[in-house]
Amino acid sequence: MKVLYAVSEARPFAASGGLADVAGSLPQALRKRLIGCRVVMPLYESVPKELRDKMKFITHIIVPVAWRSQYCGIYEAKHGGVIYYLLDNQYYFKRDNYYAYYDDAERFAFFSRAVLEILPHIGFFPDVIHCNDWQTALTPVYQTCIYSQREEYQHIKTLFTIHNIQYQGVYGREILHDVLGLSDEHYSLLEYDGAINLMKGGIECANMVTTVSPTYAKEILDPWYSHGLDSILVQREWKLKGILNGIDTEYYNPETDTEIAANYSALSPENKKLCKAALQKEMGLPETEDTPLIGIVSRLVGHKGFDLVKAVLEEILEKENVQLAVLGSGEGQYEGFFKEMHEKYPEKLGVYIGFNPALAKRIYAGADIFLMPSKSEPCGLAQMVALRYGTVPIVRATGGLKDSIFDNKGGDGNGFVFENYNAEELKETIYRALQLYKDQKEWRALRTRAFESDCSWGKSANEYIKVYKQVIKQV
Ligand code: GLC
Repeated sequence: MKVLYAVSEARPFAASGGLADVAGSLPQALRKRLIGCRVVMPLYESVPKELRDKMKFITHIIVPVAWRSQYCGIYEAKHGGVIYYLLDNQYYFKRDNYYAYYDDAERFAFFSRAVLEILPHIGFFPDVIHCNDWQTALTPVYQTCIYSQREEYQHIKTLFTIHNIQYQGVYGREILHDVLGLSDEHYSLLEYDGAINLMKGGIECANMVTTVSPTYAKEILDPWYSHGLDSILVQREWKLKGILNGIDTEYYNPETDTEIAANYSALSPENKKLCKAALQKEMGLPETEDTPLIGIVSRLVGHKGFDLVKAVLEEILEKENVQLAVLGSGEGQYEGFFKEMHEKYPEKLGVYIGFNPALAKRIYAGADIFLMPSKSEPCGLAQMVALRYGTVPIVRATGGLKDSIFDNKGGDGNGFVFENYNAEELKETIYRALQLYKDQKEWRALRTRAFESDCSWGKSANEYIKVYKQVIKQV
């Protein structure tokens, strides 16, 4: 079976979020299961030089973008035994950021079409093209409207994965001819609410649709979570499935990680306390071994649940013997809140505003508890990384958080879970965790269960293979 995984970012070449982690590890897991999986992504300006130097130039082609003829250089690189194609067009991708430009529709129409155009030139006609999020949602649309009529493309099926339904790629109708190069008869495939909605087009045209956890697959049928697309998904429920993400358990491995203060494992966790002491020092907190240390690594935005944190944190800091290490950036109101808490309680809360993957790992390793009270969370990877480092998550029961973290109420969970999006419930749950922490014997047993939770791709990679097989059989 041959799969081409099309994605707008993949670690280590380019990463701005969880999508890049998935694209940098699922293909490797598929390859280990003997699936011929290759990846295609844009060649951004920011791809690190050491990786660029190792890329091999294959050829260049011309890709149609409506009436335009655009250059597309094809480079090949290897990561974890998997072939990655990086597509070059400096006009579209030699920019400071990956997204949020006025011409994103054109940039990703180019990329989505290039995914199909390169096939004869890389000598790889896949059985399935696995597309991800709005940036590659046009690939299934082009396959349906244009390429499936060509002989070599006839057999190709498409799978579309929704990593986050909040970002859909919505544009005015005027882009249909001029940017997407499609005709009026195709409008209904892309039209939603009077506009062109790329994600909707992907959902319509792909042979199957997956999302990144079973719970999120149910949630997005509901207007509270769907950002407007519930009615489309309800009609297409027969082809929607949720598969929980895994994490790269080699990249995230406390036994071998060179970016943390000391190495440890589930079987010999003693050195975790050295990581804690080092983190306390780095964050300017007193190095007290017995104080429970809560870590936060997150984009500081509304749907991550920070309005709940804002409502209860000061009371907790005031009353409890507790410390927090916070890493993130985002909305001014939350950045400002954590800075203010740091100024008021410098002995209790340390904060780093920004993006810092190495510090993130030191927080996963050094904290006792990991806080992730999201309002919605398609899958979430941070809670799984926390488990891998033996750090006990507190989460809200939504999306992948609900599918990966099980409350310790019965003494057999791997974390703490609250149901409703409510500040009191969050507060109670934090208190419950702090209370249990005082019983170190119980706490260590809970920590062992966290450590031993399976967050690898194993099970989920097999589920993707089943979906690929199902898609290939579709007529
Ligand atoms: C998006 C989602 C996140 C998920 C990630 C990878 O970033 O918001 O929940 O873990 O994609 O699928």
